[in-house]
Amino acid sequence: MLLSSLLLLTYLFGAANAWFRLQCTLPLVSERVDPIVNPGVVGTNHVHTVHGFNPNYDYDELVASTCTSCEVTQDKSNYWFPKLYFKHPNGTFQAVANGGLLVYYQNRGTKDVANGGSGLKAFPPGLKMITGDPARRAKKFPTGQGGQDELAERAVQWTCLRYSVGLPQYDDGGAGFPHTDCEAGFQSRLHMPACWDGVNLDSVDHRSHTAFLSGLDNGDCPPTHPVGLMKLFYEVTWSVTDFAHLWNPGKEQWPFVWSTGDPTGYSWHGDFQTGWDADALQNAIDHCNNPNDATGQGDITACPFLKLQTTGVANQCKIPAMLREDVDGPMERLPGCNPLQAGPGDATLYSTDNCPVSWAWSL
Ligand SMILES: *[C@@H]1O[C@H](CO)[C@@H](O)[C@H](O)[C@H]1NC(C)=O
Repeated sequence: MLLSSLLLLTYLFGAANAWFRLQCTLPLVSERVDPIVNPGVVGTNHVHTVHGFNPNYDYDELVASTCTSCEVTQDKSNYWFPKLYFKHPNGTFQAVANGGLLVYYQNRGTKDVANGGSGLKAFPPGLKMITGDPARRAKKFPTGQGGQDELAERAVQWTCLRYSVGLPQYDDGGAGFPHTDCEAGFQSRLHMPACWDGVNLDSVDHRSHTAFLSGLDNGDCPPTHPVGLMKLFYEVTWSVTDFAHLWNPGKEQWPFVWSTGDPTGYSWHGDFQTGWDADALQNAIDHCNNPNDATGQGDITACPFLKLQTTGVANQCKIPAMLREDVDGPMERLPGCNPLQAGPGDATLYSTDNCPVSWAWSL
């Protein structure tokens, strides 16, 4: 007991890193848009849930926008990730509810002042980042090998939460989707890269202008990417247990698929486009770093440089979907008629022909 208390204290106070949790509760919109990979296209391969402001806006439009669906009013960033669907025994798909997106802003790595570094930098205006790959259907690298490709693979994760029935949670470990009901929620998580090349706000593959810390959650930035950023960590808890009575957990294959047409789990990914007031974020990085107050424990309300809004106000920030199609189901095919592809080779991202979608553009 005493030992574990001491370890906890060491953990809390030894790691004097600024960090905060930013809540995005209801989405801004859910539709087939993918503005980093396919800018300006409506009706891209798979459905994303978007939090923030308008993902089709550039940085100047974002910072001038009127609202955000997330918690800090100086943050008009967009955060997006694929939707999860339950595949009914009769083959129809139905969207799985989630509890919103929790974004952990973490200062990690040797560039952080708490670790003796020169300090982390706010996201440069216009920065875009992606973690994960919608085409991925298998693990490719030995865990811990440490190359950037392997770090990128390790950066997408999940946890199967079971505390509500007194069972231990279990983690991904590179194993694809879980195999049991996750009675207290299926939590999909990802690390964004925390190192930047200092020059490019995006890149042709949308990844190579950024890099992961050498230990993913800590360590060094590679010399090619010398600027340390706050590390974003996404966490979404899905209510898979809503469907537990419709399958035989532990005996049948997991009946959930990502909107990418992925029954394996490996295509989980997330996108980020900054809409931050860079001064506000830099102040939070530099000054909300006190291990002796609640800022040292991730409590966003303790950081005076961040202006917060209530969840009720944030939840009113919505944009209309540009593509009028059902994204919730039950429906016979995934939105976009995106076919299921189980791999293990990379999937081909395409939509089948003759997909019965009513196209309608908002004015
Ligand atoms: C399939 O099952 C779902 C859930 O029970 C139901 O809503 C849907 O109507 C069914 N579809 C067909 C084509 O039987």
